[in-house]
Amino acid sequence: MTIDLQELRRVMGHFATGVTVVTTKDGEDTPFGLTANAFASLSLDPPLALICVDKAAQCYSCFEGSKIFAINVLGEEQEEISRRFATKGAQKFNGIPWHKSESGLALLDGAISHIECKVVYSYDGGDHTIYVGEVLRAKTTGERPLIFFRGKYHRLPE
Ligand SMILES: Cc1cc2nc3c(=O)[nH]c(=O)nc-3n(C[C@H](O)[C@H](O)[C@H](O)COP(=O)(O)O)c2cc1C
Repeated sequence: MTIDLQELRRVMGHFATGVTVVTTKDGEDTPFGLTANAFASLSLDPPLALICVDKAAQCYSCFEGSKIFAINVLGEEQEEISRRFATKGAQKFNGIPWHKSESGLALLDGAISHIECKVVYSYDGGDHTIYVGEVLRAKTTGERPLIFFRGKYHRLPE
């Protein structure tokens, strides 16, 4: 039996997630990033997190080259930022407030958590690559997250 891909997408979309922008950099320290909900907290001891990046993403080669990434967990007011970082060819960082971390990664202002990682393992994941990162630094403001469910953005009920 072959799986219908549209149906698979619909079924997977019923898993509610937060939304992140994962950033990395090229050899000249230029920031790159994309919207990602394939993020998981993997292990506390040792501290590990994982992300999955589409091999067809324009910024894929930067993830392959830099071996370092930052996860920006978006807050409920950051839907537009999610849309921008999910748009191929967009000037993603233009006009968006961000600052550089100690490791030179772009941290988006207004994100509710920043998690910086160094890649320790990577695995083939079909059309994606799974990057497992050792968590170097992690911080949260404790604010409310943006939610993605059934292909739409949501807020947690008050
Ligand atoms: C809510 C949401 C979640 C996404 N999650 C992922 C993901 O986990 N991994 C991924 O590679 N792309 C994901 N995407 C798609 C990328 O953000 C999008 O294709 C992006 O433009 C790719 O980066 P590029 O502009 O460098 O090609 C997601 C998009 C949305 C809207």
